[in-house]
Amino acid sequence: MSNFIKIKNKISNFNKKLSIDGDKSLSIRWALLSSQSLKKSKASNLLLSEDVVSTLNCLKKLGVRIKIKRNVCEIIGLGLNGFKYRNNLILDAGNSGTLGRLVLGLLVHSKKKIKLKGDKSLSKRDFLRVIKPLEKFGAKFNSNCGKLPIKVLGTDYSKPIRFFENRGSAQCKSSVMFAALNTFGETIIKAKKSRDHSEILFKHLRLPIKIIKRNKYDIIKIKGKHNIPALNYKIPSDISSAAFFIILTALTKNSSLKIKNVNINPSRIGVFYILKLMGVKISKINIKNYKGEKVADLIIKSTDKIKPINCPIKFNSSAIDEFLLIFLVAAKAKGVSYFKNLSELNQKESPRLKWGSKILNKIGIKNSVTKSTIKIFGNPNLRIEKKIVIKDFLKDHRVFMTSVIAALAFGGEWKIFDKDSINTSFPSFLKKIDYLGAKID
Ligand code: S3P
Repeated sequence: MSNFIKIKNKISNFNKKLSIDGDKSLSIRWALLSSQSLKKSKASNLLLSEDVVSTLNCLKKLGVRIKIKRNVCEIIGLGLNGFKYRNNLILDAGNSGTLGRLVLGLLVHSKKKIKLKGDKSLSKRDFLRVIKPLEKFGAKFNSNCGKLPIKVLGTDYSKPIRFFENRGSAQCKSSVMFAALNTFGETIIKAKKSRDHSEILFKHLRLPIKIIKRNKYDIIKIKGKHNIPALNYKIPSDISSAAFFIILTALTKNSSLKIKNVNINPSRIGVFYILKLMGVKISKINIKNYKGEKVADLIIKSTDKIKPINCPIKFNSSAIDEFLLIFLVAAKAKGVSYFKNLSELNQKESPRLKWGSKILNKIGIKNSVTKSTIKIFGNPNLRIEKKIVIKDFLKDHRVFMTSVIAALAFGGEWKIFDKDSINTSFPSFLKKIDYLGAKID
């Protein structure tokens, strides 16, 4: 079967309701944390994408019992420090940076050498950012300059650490938090603001965690070796997946969309603030608190006039996975938009700042990009009439899906490779596109 799609027409206007797959960050964290409990935990609406399936497979290899029946996943954990370590164990994190980095945090006591590997894209990404703090707990790592494959050998007696996380990486922060769970004493993390699902889950489980919120940093104090109760959870929809449809609606004339039960954790909705500054309105209704996470239904309408933005860097972390899409919105703005301090974008599944610029070049939008900034010269009359091919993007799911949104919003004749990449985070993406009435070959 061919692994590309062709799009020849813009999408026609639509007025629909949509449901979106479960949140990836929460699904991975739910599985990893449940493995640390001695009780049976259940999750419904768990995202069964490749990143989450890789998580479940790694846990199974570590001896954790997992069952999936219809929409419910059940994990019977092994308790703190309870993984079963076999000789020559190899864990495969696939494409998932979140899994790769977080699972290392749970391995600081591994009794045997474990090898962690990943796919081509993950093998290009930096793991030194977690190796360095995890070494301070006492674990030993062997790697080629911090790249996968990595060998880890745990310590019998880990010591609590102090760690300054200054990138705004939730993966680094969470990796250290997971290691702290298994370590006697108090670990203290000073962390630049980033998504806080791990903190919310720790609090919900009543683990000994204290958080002092400062303007730019949080101080997180965790006392380890506290038993973890069962974690029963209904995973809400993923804002980063919803974002593709939010932006498609905003860019498609006379359209509206309602998306139900989306996780609108304040540390994830930078995209809303940025879009608001650009003139795109998103209403939130039925706002609820679910086990410490905020969820709501979203209503989005098309936007006629898009304003350019000098994007405040305070939104970078909370919109980190949405910038490729935000650049498409800037392409349609009347004026020049500017985004800065975005070097972390090039540390993702593909170098996304570069790919943002490449997609803009392909659709005829002038832009200038550096290692950490991009200036986009928008054109409110943007209409594409040429042929565009998107390939060799390290199968980055977000590059694929952003290209589909660009094709449907702006027109042109597109051939986009590696459609399987959607299975990383949003397996039903193309079905949802079809449901909205788009024609894709
Ligand atoms: C994630 C954190 C972010 C984000 C990724 C998921 C998480 O990565 O880009 O998609 O679940 O913790 P960084 O921690 O590298 O910023």
